[in-house]
Amino acid sequence: MENTKDLQSSLSSNLLREKRYRSFLEKCANHMTVKNIAHFGSKLMHQEKLHYHFFEDHSLFKNALYLTFFSLNLPYEYQDSKYLKRKISKEEAISILKLFERRISERVPVQYITHEAYYSGYKFFVNKNVLVPRSLMNSQFEDFLSHVHWENYRVLDLCTGSGCIGITLALLNPNIKVDLVDISSDALEVASANVKYYGLQDRVRCIQSDLFTNLHDKYDLIITNPPYVPEIEYAEQPLEVKNEPKIALVAGKDGLDILHQILTQAKKYLNPNGMLIAEVGYSAAITLKKKYPKVPFQWRKCKGSKDESLLYKITEFLIQWTPLLDSIFLCEAKGLPD
Ligand SMILES: C[S@@+](CC[C@H](N)C(=O)[O-])C[C@H]1O[C@@H](n2cnc3c(N)ncnc32)[C@H](O)[C@@H]1O
Repeated sequence: MENTKDLQSSLSSNLLREKRYRSFLEKCANHMTVKNIAHFGSKLMHQEKLHYHFFEDHSLFKNALYLTFFSLNLPYEYQDSKYLKRKISKEEAISILKLFERRISERVPVQYITHEAYYSGYKFFVNKNVLVPRSLMNSQFEDFLSHVHWENYRVLDLCTGSGCIGITLALLNPNIKVDLVDISSDALEVASANVKYYGLQDRVRCIQSDLFTNLHDKYDLIITNPPYVPEIEYAEQPLEVKNEPKIALVAGKDGLDILHQILTQAKKYLNPNGMLIAEVGYSAAITLKKKYPKVPFQWRKCKGSKDESLLYKITEFLIQWTPLLDSIFLCEAKGLPD
């Protein structure tokens, strides 16, 4: 009964898109597969000038494919051709088209539709109250952990959002205790759900605080992916980004309002041999180097996921000479301003 109703009710309030959905359903009625509905979705998303929103391979096809897999409850191993060739029924197609329509009409990241995001191979619950996890620091987490002088095995993930960074570190190293800190209680609800999902309540705490205001402990490692988008750059962001919390992105005129506070206060919250690690965005890195000439930042570049292609190797070779791409720093407590 419900299916018949579903088939009759409109898929979009936009007449042109409604026509396209109906025409796809008619034309492909007898040979609908995962692959061709994802291609249809991706074509539509291109026509509607959607932004890929940092999704895999910067690809709108992957946006559409992911929504298709999610709707069909398939494991997201889309490279496997047996899934791409899977036939889909008209009812299944309608459910998928409804997800495409949400992506298009609401201009939200796909993860806000599915309420899940993958980061470092781990699944995180997300909603509109947190930034969709995408910090490129994760390709260097194991290296970061190996650089820390452990004294009390305590880590602070400052500006935690979904908790993706602190939780991943806790999963990578079972000896550490992690505090997840955010100013937003809505974000902390999400982080707390993720802590519970991984059963980490005995090692990972959520604390609401405006940066260090409510903190009293010392840590071996403070790691942070704070807001660092300059106001003027925010204005130019695609709608998908603007539908993420503004407080997660913007940090004053030059994007450094939060970073200045972290840099000038972190020492007090670090053990003497502790370390601060922060992601800062390309334009911020240049300003920070000028503004704090005495701070011995160890700059790193954000690397994409490693692959064996020639293009990756050439890019890797070229970026190591480009100071413009410095976007993560490590700094020992001793070198930080008092
Ligand atoms: C760029 S998001 C990073 C979220 C997460 N760490 C990640 O990498 O996906 C920045 C986070 O900082 C939080 N935030 C902004 N201002 C803050 C402040 N003054 N104190 C604590 N957290 C703050 C925002 O609520 C947001 O969750």
